[in-house]
Amino acid sequence: MGDRKVIVFDTTLRDGEQTPGVNFDKDSKYRIAKQLVSLGVDVIEAGFPAASNGNFEAVKHIAENIDDVVVAGLSRCVKSDIDKTYEALKNAKKSRIHLFIATSDIHLKYKLKISRDEALKMAVDSVKYASGKFDEIQFSAEDASRTDWDFLVKIFNEVVDAGAKIINIPDTVGYAVPKEFEKLVEYVKKHIHDKDNVTISVHCHNDLGMAVVNSLSALENGADQVEVTVCGIGERAGNASLEEVIMAINTRKDYFNLLHSINTREIFSTCKLVSELSGIDLQPNKAIVGANAFRHTAGIHQHGVINNKATYEIMRPEDIGITTDHISMGKLSGRNAFELKLKNMGYELSRDEMNLAFKKFKDVADNKKIVNDDEIKAIVDDVILNSKSIKEGEIWV
Ligand code: KIV
Ligand code: ZN
Repeated sequence: MGDRKVIVFDTTLRDGEQTPGVNFDKDSKYRIAKQLVSLGVDVIEAGFPAASNGNFEAVKHIAENIDDVVVAGLSRCVKSDIDKTYEALKNAKKSRIHLFIATSDIHLKYKLKISRDEALKMAVDSVKYASGKFDEIQFSAEDASRTDWDFLVKIFNEVVDAGAKIINIPDTVGYAVPKEFEKLVEYVKKHIHDKDNVTISVHCHNDLGMAVVNSLSALENGADQVEVTVCGIGERAGNASLEEVIMAINTRKDYFNLLHSINTREIFSTCKLVSELSGIDLQPNKAIVGANAFRHTAGIHQHGVINNKATYEIMRPEDIGITTDHISMGKLSGRNAFELKLKNMGYELSRDEMNLAFKKFKDVADNKKIVNDDEIKAIVDDVILNSKSIKEGEIWV
């Protein structure tokens, strides 16, 4: 089989925003969306328009101002949600409604309190109601990995017959294990109607730390689309991390034989931006982008790396956008060097933030020979924090 292209569906702005304590305002969402375009994702799930006014406005703004990707909005299988999603997405260059309903018996009985047949009807009626209003319809069977397989295939086939072109298999509670999940993907693929025209997607949560490996197993076994978040942020223990899935595919190209449209050199700055705007620090041992990911401590390792980096590094930091620039910053450094330094450190600041950060840097540099990266980070983080609280303050006055 030749190399297949994986469709990267980023849900940082929707499931990622469900991380406890995270709330992206409209401006933050737009900044992240623009960066996701530079990163090269295929689909941006911008939010859940019916969930709140803020969500609606942010999705609408992204739909109206971001051209180069499909913009998706999440919607329950109810008319009022579909109408709201339509209002938010109607001016998008390419719109996708992401309809979902729970399908596992436990969710049907205790959460929705409806029967399988009622869920089936709500799903099919919603897909029919959404038809013609969006460029694409995606349907998710929430808690698919704990759903009876025959019922899952039945509901997928009925929504496909009604007009859905993308069907998503979420491991909503991170319960699946790789071998079992790949069999589920194979089963759905084997039994789905119109298989050549239907995209099979997977969406894995990380409750048992297996979101990335389950996603990769699914891709290996025929899934076409993978749903991910930057830095793996998301509900509870989070979602499959975009950078881990993509760098696994790249680093083990010999094994996966998969293609994608991600510009990996934008990974580091994207992670830094999401970390700053979400307030979630990157843990030092985070795969791919953590501060320790390319640090070597043991003498034997250092010796190996000095002779040949490949002894202990399976990826090149520059391929992820991590640059060791050797620019030493001091009182003679100008604005250009400062901006380059911040770019290399993964920061993307607004003009006002940059002006303020540069002024503060100059004040510090006046009294020092060299301002090191940690000191620059402290200056910039302080500027970002202040500008965030000023914006939040503006909302409440
Ligand atoms: O985890 C999940 O099931 C979801 C769906 C809405 C796709 O996020
Ligand atoms: Zn989810």
